[in-house]
Amino acid sequence: MYKIFFKLVFKRMDPEQAHHLAFRWIRLAARVPVLRTFVAAALAPRYEELRTEAFGLRMHGPFGLAAGFDKNAVAVDGMSMLGFDHVEIGTVTGEPQPGNPKKRLFRLVKDRALINRMGFNNEGSLAVAARLASREPVFRTVVGVNIGKTKVVPEAEAVGDYVKSAERLAPYADYLVVNVSSPNTPGLRNLQATEALRPLLSAVREAADRTVTSRRVPLLVKIAPDLADEDVDAVADLAVELGLDGIIATNTTIAREGLGLKSEPSLVKETGGLSGAPLKSRSLEVLRRLYARVGDRITLVGVGGIENAEDAWQRILAGATLVQGYSGFIYEGPFWGRAIHKGLAARLSTSPYATLADAVGADARKTA
Ligand SMILES: Cc1cc2nc3c(=O)[nH]c(=O)nc-3n(C[C@H](O)[C@H](O)[C@H](O)COP(=O)(O)O)c2cc1C
Repeated sequence: MYKIFFKLVFKRMDPEQAHHLAFRWIRLAARVPVLRTFVAAALAPRYEELRTEAFGLRMHGPFGLAAGFDKNAVAVDGMSMLGFDHVEIGTVTGEPQPGNPKKRLFRLVKDRALINRMGFNNEGSLAVAARLASREPVFRTVVGVNIGKTKVVPEAEAVGDYVKSAERLAPYADYLVVNVSSPNTPGLRNLQATEALRPLLSAVREAADRTVTSRRVPLLVKIAPDLADEDVDAVADLAVELGLDGIIATNTTIAREGLGLKSEPSLVKETGGLSGAPLKSRSLEVLRRLYARVGDRITLVGVGGIENAEDAWQRILAGATLVQGYSGFIYEGPFWGRAIHKGLAARLSTSPYATLADAVGADARKTA
C-alpha cells in the first residue's frame, strides 16, 4: 500500500516537502491518544526476546531512528509509535542555522538511495534543549542527542561550540553523540583526525559530567564511511583510550561507487552525502573492522543501507548491539519498523543464539 502511495504522492513531490508532510502526519497521529495507541499496537509490536541493553540503557529492541530525520526533537513519540526503539535527534548545533540553500535532498529511487546536503538545518541547542525540557513523553523511548558544529564557527573554535551544545543538551539526553562525519559542513570531517578528536571528545565528556552529576551520560562518536581503514582503527583505539561508550558507523558517504547505472546521471552528480542501499557494503565493512579492533569493550551501532531484517541481523552478527536506519524508512514507509522487528525475532528463533546479545559479533567469533 505504501509503495503505491509513494509512487502516486511522495514521488511526485519535492523530497523535502514530502518529508515535512509525512512528519506532520506522524506528529498529528502521535498527539491523538486513540490513534497513537492504535498505530503503536499495529506498527510497534514488542518482542520480549528482542529486549536490548546498550551502554546501561534498556530498550524494547535494537532498532532505532538515525540522526537527521527529527533534527529538532519535535516527533520523538511519533517515531516511537512507528516502532523505533530509540530515536536519535539532531544534529543539533551550538547556534541555530538554516542549512544549505534548497534544493538539498534528492531521491535516487532506482538505487534506493538518497543524496543530501542539508547542512545541519536546525533550531540550535538552546531551542532544542527547551523543547526537550518541556517534553511530556508518552512512550518510554531512549532519546539520543547528536551534536555537531555550527557552520560559521571556525574549525579552531569547534570544541567550544560542541561544549556549548553538550552543556545545554546533556541533561535531556539518554546518550550524546559527537558527530564529526557529515560531509555537508566544511571542515567537519577533519575533526575525525585523532589530534583533533581527542581534545574534542575529552571536552564534551567533561562538559557532560559537569552538567549532569546524577548519572553518567553515555558518549558516542559517529564516523564517516570514507575514512581510510587505518583511520578507522585510530578512532577505535582512541575511543578505547578515552573510555567512550560507543561508536556509530556510519554516516553518509561522498563516494558514488556503483551508482549511475540505474539513476539519472544528473542526480548522481549532486554534491552531498549518499545514503541507502549503495552504502550497505562499506558501512558493514567499517563495522566489522571496528568490532575486530574493539570487540566488546565499546558498544557499536550499525547504520548505513539497512533495508530489511536480514540487513539488521547481519549488522548484529558483525558486532552491532544497536542498528539504525533513515533512508529505508523513506522507501519502505510506516510498516518498516514492524517488518524489522518481526524478521529479527524470526532470525533469532532459528539461530543457535539464546539471546540477541549472544548474537552480537558472532560472525567475528566464528572466523577467529
Ligand atoms: C536527509 C538526511 C539528513 C541527515 N542528517 C544527519 C544529521 O543531521 N546528523 C547525522 O549524524 N546524520 C545525518 N544523516 C545520516 C543518517 O543518520 C545515516 O547515518 C545515514 O543516512 C546512513 O543510514 P541510511 O542508509 O539508513 O540512511 C542524514 C541522512 C539523510 C538521508
